[in-house]
Amino acid sequence: MRNHDLVFLKHFSMVIVFLIGLTVALILLGVYINSQQEPEPNPVAERAMAERVRPVGAVYAGSTGAAAQAAAAAAAAAASAGQVAYDGTLDGSVIYANLCGACHTAGAAGAPKLEKAAWATRIAQGMDTLNKHAIEGFQGAAGVMPAKGGNPNLSDEQVIATVQWMVDNLK
Ligand code: HEC
Repeated sequence: MRNHDLVFLKHFSMVIVFLIGLTVALILLGVYINSQQEPEPNPVAERAMAERVRPVGAVYAGSTGAAAQAAAAAAAAAASAGQVAYDGTLDGSVIYANLCGACHTAGAAGAPKLEKAAWATRIAQGMDTLNKHAIEGFQGAAGVMPAKGGNPNLSDEQVIATVQWMVDNLK
């Protein structure tokens, strides 16, 4: 009876060991087969890539092309129309009256009034420096001159014309 038990135990353990080995072998086989598989394409990644390699512009040819170009030009003109300050005037007196004078006429916030005494040392810096300070803005001892007087839609030319007008009209 005891002997039978021992034999049974021996065979049973062998079966268990065999099954464990079979399990490990099947797992390894599964991993191997899976690694041979082509990965499924990811639709999100595919869309992102198509977006990245999309051409920047489109080609318009013939009459559709001419119409599209005319529409684009009209849209650009309409968009820029609102962005030119004071109708793009290069008349310094107009820009000064509408914008710069708010500070410079009364000397608000430390702005130099249009008086020769207030401008002598400033003019001595040279017109280029004055223009640069008016265009880019300037923190001086007296206060802050905002870039383009605070209106970014002014063109550099308009600011330069206004600075020239101010310097020409000192009292
Ligand atoms: C918000 C008020 C304000 C407005 C608006 C303003 N300025 Fe000034 N501006 C100043 C102040 C303040 C200074 C003096 C800064 C300092 O020297 O400390 C100054 C200085 C200047 C100077 C002298 C810079 C230098 O180097 O000494 C010029 C040129 C000038 N402004 C041009 C203009 C023009 C052109 C405009 C309109 C487009 C304009 N400013 C609008 C406040 C203003």
